[in-house]
Order: sequence, then C-alpha cells, then structure tokens
Amino acid sequence: MTTETQTASRRRASFHNLTVSEVRRLTDDAIEVTFGVPAELAGQYDYLPGQYVALRTTLPDEQGELHEVRRSYSICAEPRSFADGSSEIRVAIKKDLGGLFSTWANAELKAGDVLDVMSPQGAFISRHGKDGASVQHNVMNSMNHPEELAGEPGNFVAIAAGSGITPVIAIARTLLAANPETTFDLVYANKAAMDVMFLEELADLKDKYPSRLALHHVLSREQRIAPLMTGRIDSEKLQALLSSAIRAEDVDEWFLCGPFELVQLCRDTLAARGVEPEHVRFELFTTGRPDRPEGNAGRPVVEDESQDTYKITFTLDGLTGDVASPTHARESILNAALRVRPDVPFACAGGVCGTCRAKLITGTVTMDENYALEQDELDKGYVLTCQSHPTSEEVTVDFDV
Ligand code: FES
Repeated sequence: MTTETQTASRRRASFHNLTVSEVRRLTDDAIEVTFGVPAELAGQYDYLPGQYVALRTTLPDEQGELHEVRRSYSICAEPRSFADGSSEIRVAIKKDLGGLFSTWANAELKAGDVLDVMSPQGAFISRHGKDGASVQHNVMNSMNHPEELAGEPGNFVAIAAGSGITPVIAIARTLLAANPETTFDLVYANKAAMDVMFLEELADLKDKYPSRLALHHVLSREQRIAPLMTGRIDSEKLQALLSSAIRAEDVDEWFLCGPFELVQLCRDTLAARGVEPEHVRFELFTTGRPDRPEGNAGRPVVEDESQDTYKITFTLDGLTGDVASPTHARESILNAALRVRPDVPFACAGGVCGTCRAKLITGTVTMDENYALEQDELDKGYVLTCQSHPTSEEVTVDFDV
C-alpha cells in the first residue's frame, strides 16, 4: 500500500462545516448530496473511490428533544478537483425505515444548508496493482484526468445490493477509466426497478464500456426475462451467477457491499470456491446483529468510587488523558473515552467503518466485532475502540499513530 493510500484511507478523522451545493433525487427514497469543499480544506477531503464520510448534525426526536446524530455515507463519485483548488464530495442518502437522519435529509436537506462532514475514511478500496501500489495511488495524482491513469489492467467483480451501489459505482468508474483492458462485472440486487439507484449513470457507464462492463440487475420482487435475474440472491442463485452469468475466473479483486447476510453469503461462497480473502473487499451497511446494539457510544455510565474500575489512558491529537471505567459496566474504550473527550473519532460504532481505530500501547483488550481492520493492522496492535473492552486493569491506547 502506498503512503498516499495509507494517508487517505487511515487519516485521522476531523469534522469541518461544509455547505451543500446540490441535492439531486435518485429514487423516491434516495438523494445524492453534493458538498462544496473550499480550496483551503481540499487536502483534507481528497479520497479514494470506495471511501465514505460521516455527517453530523443536531435533530429533534419525536418529543422535540435535540440529539446529535451522525451517520456514515459512501462517496458515490470519482475524485474531482477544480481549477481554483476547490473540490467536492458527493454522497447518496437512502431513507432507512425509521432512520432519523436519512428521513430528515430526504425531506429537508437543500442547497445552502451546512453540515459537519468528517474527512473521508474507509478501507473499501482497490489494492490491485504493481508491488502493492494500487491504481488508486495514480488516482490521487491525477484527480481530474482518470483517462490518463496508467493503472494495471485487471478483472473485477462487484456484488452490491440497494445503496451498496454507492461506493461500487465510484470504484467501477475509476477502474474502468484507469486501463483500456480492465473488465468489470457488476451484479446489482434490488427489490424492484423503481429502487435502482444511479440507473441512468449505470446505463451511461455501460454505453461507454459496452464490452468491458457487464451489468446484471437482479430484482427480487419483479419478474425479469431471465429467471436467474429474478428473486432474492440466495446460495443457489449466487452459485448459478458465478458459474454462468459473470466472468468469475481470473478475478483480481472482488467488491461486496450490502447487508450483512448477503455479504457473508458471498464471502463464504467465494472462500469455498478457493478465492483468497486478500482478493475480497467488503463493506457492510450494519453489523446486522440485532442482539447487539450498534455500538454503545454515549451510553451513560455512572462512576462510583467504591467500584472496581479499569484505568484507560489515551492519546488524541497529542493530548494524553485518562478515564476510569467501572468493570461491571463492560463499556467499550470509545464509550469511556467519549465521557472525557467528546471529540474522539467514531462513525458507525458497530465495528464496520474503522474510524475509531487506535493502537494498543499497553494492557490487553477483547474485541467483539471487527469488520474493518485487516490482519496486518491487528498484527501491529491496532484495535477498534468501539468494540474493545479492557481485560487488564490498565490499558493505554493511542489514536494518533
Ligand atoms: S466507529 Fe466504526 S468501527 Fe468503530
């Protein structure tokens, strides 16, 4: 991985106010939101296709009580910058059932509004290329001229469902533009045609790369001419797709993005077919574990001097502090740290995004879920603080390294 890739994929997260420059409706329940990035902040908002930003604002609940709400959304466009040094970030926001932020954004958000936007994060990016240097490295150096990129040719397959198309369309556009021999097979699952996001953009991409892009729309609640493209993607359908519809041989990289069950099914199926895990990138909407709340950031914990506590010491932005965490509370390191430093970075609080990553310096922890860190990061001692609980009396972590 190049330095540039590391910088953009694992840079320390920070929020800035950005102004919405455009809101475009994609479907009845999804919008594309463009944020203008002024020249002085452009360096903090460069990104790699496949990354996401967290958005933060304050919204009233049903009782009218105000709450800070933050949600992560994938960036749906390839990187662009303008002659004056400014740039832009585009995300797609699909209305979730009961989702406070997404419902508000779909109904209310408009050009001119200002939101807190976190610098782009995430490791759902292509690693394909020479000596570990990725095509994305070239993207960073040629943001406005993807056609000039000298990426290695590759064969890529993506399986996306619903709003899982958002990072995938940015990745597909970039990889296809990077090399004239690259092929990309995209399986895109939705309930019905009216739910398909970026329908026109996908059709345009297909027109641009008729032989190199293979586009397979699978609709679970609508009859398509080919039975294979109708119905939910289960194990049988996935095997059939891999065996007959898509170019599944000699694939350099797989991209999976959707709900937990689909991504897990695809990962298991690919592993059973002998695909090495280092060729598979995946991103989940949520951890899909209803038995575990989506992290416990902000959960109130009352400290009581008579109780046993863990001592958690952490360094953030060069400042070191500590916090006591009652052992019976079994709270996460993130949860404890947020009580004394509200600026500790997090987004999903569910072990998915990697924003809360820190390095364990001393002590031991146990981690519940990890859908974000790669093996080499675990080997170096990195942990997801939203999922980590102390197992030694004292624990020290560093968010800065
Ligand atoms: S905040 Fe997303 S993994 Fe911890």
